[in-house]
Amino acid sequence: MQKTHTHGQWTSRMGFVLAATGSAVGLGNIWKFPYMIGQSGGAAFVLVYLLCIALIGLPILVAEWMIGRRGQKNPISTMGELAKKNGRSGAWALIGFTGVLGAFLILSFYSVIGGWALSYTGDAITGGFTGMDKDAVGNAFTGFLANAGSLLTWHTVFMALTVGVVAMGVAGGLERASKLLMPSLGVLLFILVGYGMTTGGFGQAMAYLFNPDWSKLTGDVVLAALGHAFFTLSLGMGIMMAYGSYLGEDVDLLRTARTVVIMDTVIAIAAGLAIFPIVFANGLDPAAGPGLIFVTLPIAFGNITGGVILGTLFFVLLTFAALTSAISLLEPVVELVEERTPLSRAGATFVAGIATWALGIAALLSFNHWSDVTIIGLNIFDLLDQLTSKFMLPLTGLGAILFAAWCLDRDSVRKELGLGELGFSVWNVVARFVAPVGVLIVFVSNL
Ligand code: PHE
Repeated sequence: MQKTHTHGQWTSRMGFVLAATGSAVGLGNIWKFPYMIGQSGGAAFVLVYLLCIALIGLPILVAEWMIGRRGQKNPISTMGELAKKNGRSGAWALIGFTGVLGAFLILSFYSVIGGWALSYTGDAITGGFTGMDKDAVGNAFTGFLANAGSLLTWHTVFMALTVGVVAMGVAGGLERASKLLMPSLGVLLFILVGYGMTTGGFGQAMAYLFNPDWSKLTGDVVLAALGHAFFTLSLGMGIMMAYGSYLGEDVDLLRTARTVVIMDTVIAIAAGLAIFPIVFANGLDPAAGPGLIFVTLPIAFGNITGGVILGTLFFVLLTFAALTSAISLLEPVVELVEERTPLSRAGATFVAGIATWALGIAALLSFNHWSDVTIIGLNIFDLLDQLTSKFMLPLTGLGAILFAAWCLDRDSVRKELGLGELGFSVWNVVARFVAPVGVLIVFVSNL
């Protein structure tokens, strides 16, 4: 049976920017980035991360879009067919495969955290944070994690929402909603940064984020920064490739990539500036791990005027940001199941959703009943996270940039990038050498 794509091209450049930003901006920026800074000891991580975003993330983002726009299929077929067309081995399709697998693994634990955001939305609406101090907030979170049933409920609700949206096709409504909700999230974060300034911990937070102690810079910290650059820009998963396949010829890739990268980075830094003043003002541990935003921000919401409204808004927007990313994570898996099996789009979405949900259960049990279950020293949640961020994403992204820089025909690439002689030379140096060598060095130095 011949199947046609269920969604056509983006209606406009704006629609595309929103969808790409929707995928990029998510829990990675607001939940993960701050706690990784904390675990990695601060500014040295932040600076390496920014370097990775500019020198490796941005070119790979462009490379993935470029490949997707030419291939016009799911990432596996796209890579395989483009490779053959350019006289290369069909084995390049493997890059598409590891990408889809990565998306599946990430969504399983991502949905668990999306569930936390949902649950905290409920607490915020009912005024549950009012008057809470750091101990109350911390105990509430510990109690929440210990309760597997409640984690499972919220993980299930979040996954159901994701499946629902994907099954209906990425509806115009979602695109339109993003236009309003994403900027609102940005504004709210800046309000929280404003609160941070009043806590007395702001100066310490600034120093922690921007004044590096280079002795903290280990190989593992660099690898974490690199991995997070991929995670936060949704790279190395075939997602941006898939988005590129719906992209019109007239869109300027470099300019668009710059817009997406800047928005993503600003949101992440704002999250750091909102959270760390609260950490220091309350004597909390910056290295608390994945719970960091859940044990810091409620303190702010519990103690500022309008905290109930602001807290509710914040967690609603966080959930929304998580959902727009989760949708993008499910999409490549669904696309693959749909094209390779007789299932309809709805059927494929359901199957992909159930499989991801089931793996997510193993991830959420890491916080309670299975906290002792470890594989190579990591619990299941950490294993899923680290395996994808530190290995699968960078290696898949490396494949994508090598392919775009070395295998695609140069003249058309140059036209596509809209670059002059000099600009194109710079692109070539970065795409052929700087980005791939950067990824390789980080890897080899870690082995
Ligand atoms: N970039 C998203 C975030 O930062 C997460 C994500 C990763 C989404 C990979 C899609 C693909 O939250």
